[in-house]
Amino acid sequence: MSQLFIAHGHRDVDSVLHVHEAMRRASIPTWYTPPGSKEVDPESVNEAIDSAFGMVVLVSASSIRSKAVEAQLARAQRLGLKLFPIRVDNARLSKPFKSALADQLTDSLGDKGALERLVEAVKTRYERRCPVIAVMNLKGGVGKTTIASQVFGAWQANLGGRTLLIDLDPQYNLTETFFDMEYADASSARDKSVISLFERSRLHAYDMTSPGDSWSKINTEPFDPVNRETIAHNLLTGDKAPEGRFDLISGQFEISKYAFASSPEALAVVGANFRRMIDYYRSEYDLIVFDTNPNATFLTRCALEAADRVLTPMHPDIYSLRGVKLLNQVIREQISEDKRPDLSVLFNTVGRSEQSNFEADARNGAFDEQAGYALSKSLLASALPRSGHLVVRGAGSEDLPWQRLVIHRGRGGGLKRIRQSLTGIAGELKQLMED
Ligand SMILES: Nc1ncnc2c1ncn2[C@@H]1O[C@H](COP(=O)(O)OP(=O)(O)O)[C@@H](O)[C@H]1O
Ligand SMILES: [Mg+2]
Repeated sequence: MSQLFIAHGHRDVDSVLHVHEAMRRASIPTWYTPPGSKEVDPESVNEAIDSAFGMVVLVSASSIRSKAVEAQLARAQRLGLKLFPIRVDNARLSKPFKSALADQLTDSLGDKGALERLVEAVKTRYERRCPVIAVMNLKGGVGKTTIASQVFGAWQANLGGRTLLIDLDPQYNLTETFFDMEYADASSARDKSVISLFERSRLHAYDMTSPGDSWSKINTEPFDPVNRETIAHNLLTGDKAPEGRFDLISGQFEISKYAFASSPEALAVVGANFRRMIDYYRSEYDLIVFDTNPNATFLTRCALEAADRVLTPMHPDIYSLRGVKLLNQVIREQISEDKRPDLSVLFNTVGRSEQSNFEADARNGAFDEQAGYALSKSLLASALPRSGHLVVRGAGSEDLPWQRLVIHRGRGGGLKRIRQSLTGIAGELKQLMED
């Protein structure tokens, strides 16, 4: 479970304990280097920062001079961690403190009500549920998987935040983007995969039969969420891996079993399990993204009910338009209002002249009637261009998972342009989610 990291100088002993005590009363777990101890293993400090949901920074003469605190602050910034600075004394801010904290630094710990305000702000963050985006179109081959990996890879790398990808497509192409088939299948053989969001599995009880092994039976026994490390793959591993958290719950074919289930009661339980698990992991991440299957199934409903927003990639042609139309219809007619996500449409692979005409017409509302809703208003302003860098690379590549992301690839013709494009789309989406 996630905790609050308290960064402090070695003279801030009283203030640390004061803040810790206030958080404890509000049932917020904290982590700080024990005051007075000289040697603290830097690895354990880094781990504590990486698993934190936020960082209180005590700003004092002592902390400003501390190299350790400077490093902690830098790591938190790279992770996109929420910072809660508060003054302990009136020391002048050094450069790194100024650029990281100056505009948020309003309170001093001694001020009336300051501690209460700090606890309130931290608590709001602690209880926050991150946004969930489902990448979906009721048509295959429009770029769902490419966007789930590359746009959100760029989001994590350039806009920060802890991100979880979930592969909800039984064809699990998203998983194959990062891992070879053998690795992915070995992982689902242990139930370290998406099925453990739907049914009790060997992640919950080591000696049981895998729900993936019994297609005809759905296990409706209740289960608790497992730690995120137990179910998700860390994609930022290996030599020179980028900072931050970018995880994947890998996909598998066996979740197709729900399409053949005959018991509506059992499916209702499985669907509720999925929503409960997503809700749990929402407090562990800043963003959750689903890649989805193209045909409307039980899995489609699960994704739609758990998502705040649907991101629909669309090719500039009438077949794609029909996919968007059907999807919008499914959302309106099948998903109850309290669970209904917003819809954003992203043009993928525009460029050739006849395509860009289609795009211009769509933006002008020419297809709104055909789409059955105000498509022109749901279009993102940015579009994803066709690029050789986005074409799926063949198997047998020995890259580490994160090296499959365009945003982390070396130099090359056109890479800069496509990276800007990916980051631009992410930025526009992020803005939409915050509004
Ligand atoms: N913008 C793009 N430029 C070049 N190739 C793309 C682009 N978007 C998708 N592709 C390619 O199109 C194919 C289908 O994309 P994919 O993401 O698998 O679609 P979906 O998940 O909707 O079925 C893949 O081979 C992918 O590499
Ligand atoms: Mg796909």
